[in-house]
Order: sequence, then C-alpha cells, then structure tokens
Amino acid sequence: MKNIIISIDGASSTGKSSLAKALAKHYSFKHIDSGAMYRALTFYALHHQLIDKNHFDIDTLVYHLPTIEIDFSTDDFVTLNGKIIENEVRSMEVSNFVSIVAKETLFRKFMVAKQRELGKKGNVVMDGRDIGSVVFPDATIKFFIEASMEVRAKRRFAELTQKNIDVSLSDVISNIENRDHIDSSRDDSPLVIPENAIVLTNNEDGLSHLLEVAISKIDRLNH
Ligand code: CDP
Repeated sequence: MKNIIISIDGASSTGKSSLAKALAKHYSFKHIDSGAMYRALTFYALHHQLIDKNHFDIDTLVYHLPTIEIDFSTDDFVTLNGKIIENEVRSMEVSNFVSIVAKETLFRKFMVAKQRELGKKGNVVMDGRDIGSVVFPDATIKFFIEASMEVRAKRRFAELTQKNIDVSLSDVISNIENRDHIDSSRDDSPLVIPENAIVLTNNEDGLSHLLEVAISKIDRLNH
C-alpha cells in the first residue's frame, strides 16, 4: 500500500494511541501521536513558567514559537528541540494543562502545519482529536474510537501506575472529565466524529479485537 493516511480520533484514554502504534507496526508505517505534540508544547510552557493554575502567558509562548521545534525520533518518540521528552509529556502536570494550551487557535495552526508536513509523504497513522476532521479531511481511512468512562479511567490509571507515577483513580477521572469538556466545547477544532469515520468501540475485549477489526477495514480498501 502506498501514500496511505490512517486517521484515528477519539477522546482521552480510549486507546487511540495503542491502536495507532499497533497498526503502524503491522503496516510498517510511521506513527504520529499528535497529542504528544500538544503535550510537548505544554511541557515547554510549564518549564518556562508560562502557565500555572492562575495564569497563562499566551503572548510570550507565541513569541517563543519560532524557537520551538517539536518533532519525532526515528522510534516515533516526541522530541522538543531535538531532545526526547516522551516520559516527561505523560506527567499529570502536563495532562492538567494540555487542553488549555490546545484550545488556542495560534497553537493549533502551528501544530496542524507541522502535522501536515509530517504526514505529506503518506504511509502514516496519526491519532488525535481533529486528524480526520481538520488535519487530513481526505485521509485514506478514518477511525473514531469510543470507550466507556470506566474502561478509559482504568486504562489510564494502569498506564500511569506502571510508570510509577503516583496518582489516584479519582484524579485520573477528573482529569479525563475536565479534558473531555474543554476538548469538546472549544471553538477551534472541537472533538467530533469526522465525516465518513468508522466508529469502533474499545471495550473490555481490548486492543487485539480492535486491531483485527481495523485491519480488516483497511485491507478491504485494497480489494
Ligand atoms: O493520551 P490522551 O488520549 O489522554 O491525550 P492526548 O492524545 O495525549 O492529547 C492530549 C491533549 O492534547 C488532548 O486532551 C487535547 O486537548 C489535545 N489534542 C488536541 O487538541 N488535538 C489533537 N489532535 C491531539 C490532542
């Protein structure tokens, strides 16, 4: 298969990235986790004290944008100005601020331009919130992943505790609910089911079932 773009959208912790990684491996495509890019920018803002509970210095972050290079290593780990920050971007602190950064149009424009550049050669799986709706409305195939709050919270809690991040299940749930609200209600590129997207439900069956269904839909394109 040539010049294929697979988009996977959905809310937080529905399993988009796991499915995207598994599909990328299956087809030997590149995986681009667009959420990691917003997380990298948020990490930068936190690191430079541009955002906290009480303020967000949008103007200074905009001013710094030309000096900020967000990319991916050959292993698909997110990098900030050349340094892999894959672990740093998964912290609860970044999770607590990322949707506030991601709702700003100027930062979205910056990311969308980079995402289009990263995807232009094709043979990529990109996951996020607006990939099938805004970044690649003409993607070869679009998926939208849904999951219950219980499945989502358990998934994220297990991921974080596995990384020895000290967090309670109730903190995880409130972070997911808060981001759901901001991501779905923002003016620019809110989370929606993209036109022509195939909606898949990630339930207790887990990744292998989801992967099987997604592969069968993709392989059907070739026949
Ligand atoms: O890992 P999880 O599914 O929780 O989130 P993520 O994909 O890492 O995305 C983190 C945040 O970035 C989301 O909650 C959105 O606020 C934002 N995001 C976005 O606005 N657009 C995207 N294409 C991807 C992420």
